[in-house]
Amino acid sequence: MGDTKANLTIDGTSREYSVLDGTIGPSVVDISSLYKDTGMFTFDPGFTSTASCESKITYIDGDEGTLLYRGYPIEQLADHGDFLESCYLLLYGELPTRPQKEDFVNRVTKHTMIHEQMSRFFTGFRRDAHPMAVMVGVVGALSAFYHDSTDIADPHQRMVASIRMIAKMPTIAAMAYKYHIGQPFVYPKNDLDYSANFLHMCFAVPCEEYKVNPVLARAMDRIFILHADHEQNASTSTVRLAGSSGANPFACIAAGIACLWGPAHGGANEAALNMLTEIGSVDRIPEFIARAKDKNDPFRLMGFGHRVYKNYDPRARIMQKTTHEVLAELGIKDDPLLDVAMELERIALSDEYFVSKKLYPNIDFYSGITLRALGFPPHMFTVLFALARTVGWIAQWKEMVEDPGQRIGRPRQLYTGAPKRDYVPVEQRR
Ligand code: CMC
Repeated sequence: MGDTKANLTIDGTSREYSVLDGTIGPSVVDISSLYKDTGMFTFDPGFTSTASCESKITYIDGDEGTLLYRGYPIEQLADHGDFLESCYLLLYGELPTRPQKEDFVNRVTKHTMIHEQMSRFFTGFRRDAHPMAVMVGVVGALSAFYHDSTDIADPHQRMVASIRMIAKMPTIAAMAYKYHIGQPFVYPKNDLDYSANFLHMCFAVPCEEYKVNPVLARAMDRIFILHADHEQNASTSTVRLAGSSGANPFACIAAGIACLWGPAHGGANEAALNMLTEIGSVDRIPEFIARAKDKNDPFRLMGFGHRVYKNYDPRARIMQKTTHEVLAELGIKDDPLLDVAMELERIALSDEYFVSKKLYPNIDFYSGITLRALGFPPHMFTVLFALARTVGWIAQWKEMVEDPGQRIGRPRQLYTGAPKRDYVPVEQRR
């Protein structure tokens, strides 16, 4: 804690509040005693100026366009690391040594199957259900199958639940996909690595041999690394808030998945691809740029803008590179949607509206093109985001539960409804 103080004067009475410094990034004014001192709350809808917790996991510098997991730049992790190593890093705070990595990979691999009875859950859903609806239901249902890892006061159970979710999420996601397209479920193959196993569960069929393309598996792995955590975004805050009441971790992650689904958050990858498809050709871009700028039109450029990044999203840069690698590997020389995306980006980045509002492409702008090339239909995109973000949610949930000062999250409000009034019997109401 630094020695800086912030003074707040209300009606001529001045009070002093401590300013707390982080390792990097903005300091915070500790106003936790404000209500006790003054009888007032702070008002910050959308939490644009509120640090909701202390955390050591992920750091974003939105002006610089920097993203660090436990201090390591996302570019280095994406170039040199792999997803399970990033999971270990997020969960334990350090990159694993070789034996630690082998042990972790082994533990995750041993938990990839789901309880056989759970497969019957899927048949209860309509075939045309959105896979995110299936994910919310099935992940929430994990708590009905794994009672032995729902006691959040037990560190061993917490860790078992964490490993189970990282391990089972690809299996559940692949099953949601297979059910949707009417193909049989494919069991995990534990001799494949995490991402290759996922591709195998999604795209193999029992009637023929399916060999995972290592370049595509590596691209999938990198996409998972890019999505693994992102500080206190809406779904992570949802997981923390749900967990703050003592709810079990499976229920908390299901809550996170529900929040992620929205088009302003994880649902933007599906929405961005749908938008690029709707635009269709480069000559229609000006029409859509005009709509995005029109205050009376609710249309927004999906995959553009971010609450925190006021610079190029560093994940978008890596994603764009991955898009080119995947298309090259698949021999796709010409993808009309990529042409539309690149031209849209070029025009938007030189347009006064987008420049002045600091609206840059975010991770979702290019991810849809990549995921589609990998073979996924648009409504699987947010499922893949949820799969990868699970480790971030868990790391944040664990950090919160393990904080000795943790209390239930309970925001207050500025009430502007009716003041106290008396009940009126129905026959007297006008
Ligand atoms: N297209 C056109 N105008 C935009 C856009 C956009 N994509 N994004 C923001 N603006 C404008 C907005 O109209 C507002 O203008 P004004 O100040 O004149 O009212 C200004 O920029 C600030 O926007 P905001 O809605 O106040 O910003 P926010 O921080 O509340 O919202 C956002 C951030 C990501 C929800 C928003 O930029 C957006 O809706 N983007 C499209 C959806 C999207 O791509 N979401 C994925 C985010 S990254 C993945 C993830 O982390 O989930």
